Amino acid sequence: MQPRLIQVDRADPSASRDELLRGLQADPAAIPPKYFYDALGARLFAAITELPEYYPTRTEAAIFARHAEAMARLLPAFAALVDLGAGNCEKAARLFAAFGVRRYVAVDISVDYLRESLDVLRHQHPRLDLLGVGLDFSSRLDLPAAVGEGPRLLFYPGSSIGNFAPADALAFLRQARAAAQGGALLIGVDLVKPVDVLEAAYDDPLGVTAAFNRNLLRHVRRVASADFSLTDWRHVAFFNDAESRIEMHLEAVRDVAVRWPGGARRFAAGARIHTENSYKWRLADFAALLDSAGFGDLHHWTDDNDWFAVFLARA
Ligand SMILES: C[S@@+](CC[C@H](N)C(=O)[O-])C[C@H]1O[C@@H](n2cnc3c(N)ncnc32)[C@H](O)[C@@H]1O
Repeated sequence: MQPRLIQVDRADPSASRDELLRGLQADPAAIPPKYFYDALGARLFAAITELPEYYPTRTEAAIFARHAEAMARLLPAFAALVDLGAGNCEKAARLFAAFGVRRYVAVDISVDYLRESLDVLRHQHPRLDLLGVGLDFSSRLDLPAAVGEGPRLLFYPGSSIGNFAPADALAFLRQARAAAQGGALLIGVDLVKPVDVLEAAYDDPLGVTAAFNRNLLRHVRRVASADFSLTDWRHVAFFNDAESRIEMHLEAVRDVAVRWPGGARRFAAGARIHTENSYKWRLADFAALLDSAGFGDLHHWTDDNDWFAVFLARA
């Protein structure tokens, strides 16, 4: 039996095109990070998580491996584990046994990749009640009724919360609290650490992160019919200390004119398109954010270096 997959607000090509063209014409130009995740982008992200320089995935995995039983003892009863930005679903799957998960809801914007991930999961966990939800939760976390009644354990690992500026992170967490229906949130948060460690994680010598970043232009080419040439752009990533965030950009290596139906923009050599922010938090500041969002009974676990934290918070 195929896992059930429902698509909320099926991707509207004209809305995506308008959003992309607005970003390309803005000053500075910007593309929302959700456009990284076409089918190839999702696979490139999975490859990034294998890189020795990309500490977040393995550090977070080690925290879960070490503390999953302790987390399980603190969890409230929940009807479903809801994975926000589930990707290949592997992180959640490692917790099914320890957390006694009976119903798993994988939410992701990248629907084709989600379908493949759920097919794999179906074979590995034939008795699990599985539901896929194709949803863009960046503007509103509005889970469909099919997710079901009762308290939910919302799972938001990988420090994806770092893609939101602090005020937007607060707004998102408030929505997550409502969506949990009295359950809890289990969330991974990347912490401030030495700059060389941070910058290597987002600019690896093999160039996988650069490929992930530049692949965005292929996606934009498809969705907005903008005639980007990939060889005109290079990957740039650095830590912005004042904002406590890694920034990723695409930088024009020469004077470039990008055209699309009905418009065009010139980028001088060195001009940038901002493609991602990844905010790095301090433990106390993130705890205060959860508190402001209305969560209580906070617990957290970190690795030995305090590079990464997992918070459990009651909704
Ligand atoms: C950085 S990956 C994390 C994947 C996995 N949860 C992990 O921690 O390794 C982000 C995932 O979130 C999904 N995603 C990104 N933006 C999204 C959005 N606005 N709405 C829903 N899913 C989104 C992507 O397709 C991708 O699978």
